[in-house]
Amino acid sequence: MSDFREIDFFTDQTLVNDPYPYYESLRAQCPVQREPHHGALAVTGYDEVTEVLRESSVFSNCNAPVGPMIDLPFVPEGDDISDLIETHRDQFPMYEHLVTMDQPQHTAHRELLKRLFTPRRLKENEEFMWRLADSHIDRFHATGKVEIMAEYAKPFALLTIADLLGVPEEYHREFQIKLGAQQPGPLDEPFVGNPLEFLGENFSTWLAERRREPRGDVLTSLATGTFPDGTLPEVAEVVHIATFLFAAGQDTTARLLTSALHILAENPELQQKLRDQRELIPTFIEETLRLESPVKADFRLARRTTTVGGVEVPVGSSVMVLLGAANRDPGRFECPAEFRLERPNVREHIAFGRGAHSCPGAPLARVEARVSLERMLDRMGDIRISETEHGPADARRWTYEPTFILRGHNILHLEYTPIG
Ligand code: HEM
Repeated sequence: MSDFREIDFFTDQTLVNDPYPYYESLRAQCPVQREPHHGALAVTGYDEVTEVLRESSVFSNCNAPVGPMIDLPFVPEGDDISDLIETHRDQFPMYEHLVTMDQPQHTAHRELLKRLFTPRRLKENEEFMWRLADSHIDRFHATGKVEIMAEYAKPFALLTIADLLGVPEEYHREFQIKLGAQQPGPLDEPFVGNPLEFLGENFSTWLAERRREPRGDVLTSLATGTFPDGTLPEVAEVVHIATFLFAAGQDTTARLLTSALHILAENPELQQKLRDQRELIPTFIEETLRLESPVKADFRLARRTTTVGGVEVPVGSSVMVLLGAANRDPGRFECPAEFRLERPNVREHIAFGRGAHSCPGAPLARVEARVSLERMLDRMGDIRISETEHGPADARRWTYEPTFILRGHNILHLEYTPIG
């Protein structure tokens, strides 16, 4: 195995196409060890990653999206830095969003989300997805080819979240253009602003309106939700909950869809099996999540000195949990680099994290993938990789997301035989 010590995980472009040998090399040395370039403690073993994610009283989420890519806003001093974290919390990036919060604030804010993920809301949302899948496939169906990220995955994932939140359909096109999921047409005004500000302004207006004049819609339910102690959140707090869903749920789900289609397009037998046995689609999605986990790295800050997997983690350490590495740990998954539909423990993967912060959007992402694959298999025969765009089978050229945050394609051209 190569020596990867020279490689900076956070910036090195040689890892973009295939980060897995790097993960293996780290795990083979030790499943918990310091990476030399930014000083993060890299955790690559399944049990060790799970241990970190479950211990939210020992590990803070304050640095979850960025890890060692920012300097701590304080010097870690003493045995326990919990008070320092609280004093400086608003100096961490994305401090106002759920993913960086700790208990008890996190528990209270997560409660607000429950209003969106009710069985009834998920059912209505799924009905919307079936229509959405067909309306997007209609646009390219007759051509026999598609760039699946721009023409399907991004807009599909975006509009599913917009529908979940009750964004009125007349705003959907504007949302797509302003959040970069659709090119503006000749009659659209070009958008030069900040997508997050655009989202914030719209949701502030809608939620404040619904508090003044409740309407019995999803936005009203969101606007009038209370914390577990019965207090009403500030409108801005609810706006943060709503807007963060776009950040958390769009690019991740789009990567799951493109990885799933990549696997199907490269495996005609597997594709035929799913065409014949549609009940295997949910398992196929789980194995895709395991093999190509869309979130590469997630971070925690050690509040006090502790151990993980028997290795000392000093107070103030930035801990990097590598979900894609844990999901390929041979100690947990036999022949982990192989795609195996019949893997008995496929559902043990941790692509959606674990513990208090585990992904609340997981049921949604799974339905998005299932609905999309069902309709694609119905309407697109013999799905294959475009050799014009990606080269021949023995020399493919891919454009993977070039960051340490996400794993998956940015562009995936497919060809197929239109059915019907
Ligand atoms: C395949 C798609 C997805 C993957 C792989 C994924 C993965 C993850 C992971 C690993 C976390 C944990 C972060 C942490 O522990 O620090 C997370 C959190 C989160 N995800 Fe997802 N996610 C996906 C889709 C979605 C969707 C569709 C939504 C909502 C529409 C969503 C909303 C969230 C939210 C709000 C959090 C923060 C939860 C918290 O901090 O309590 N995700 N996601």
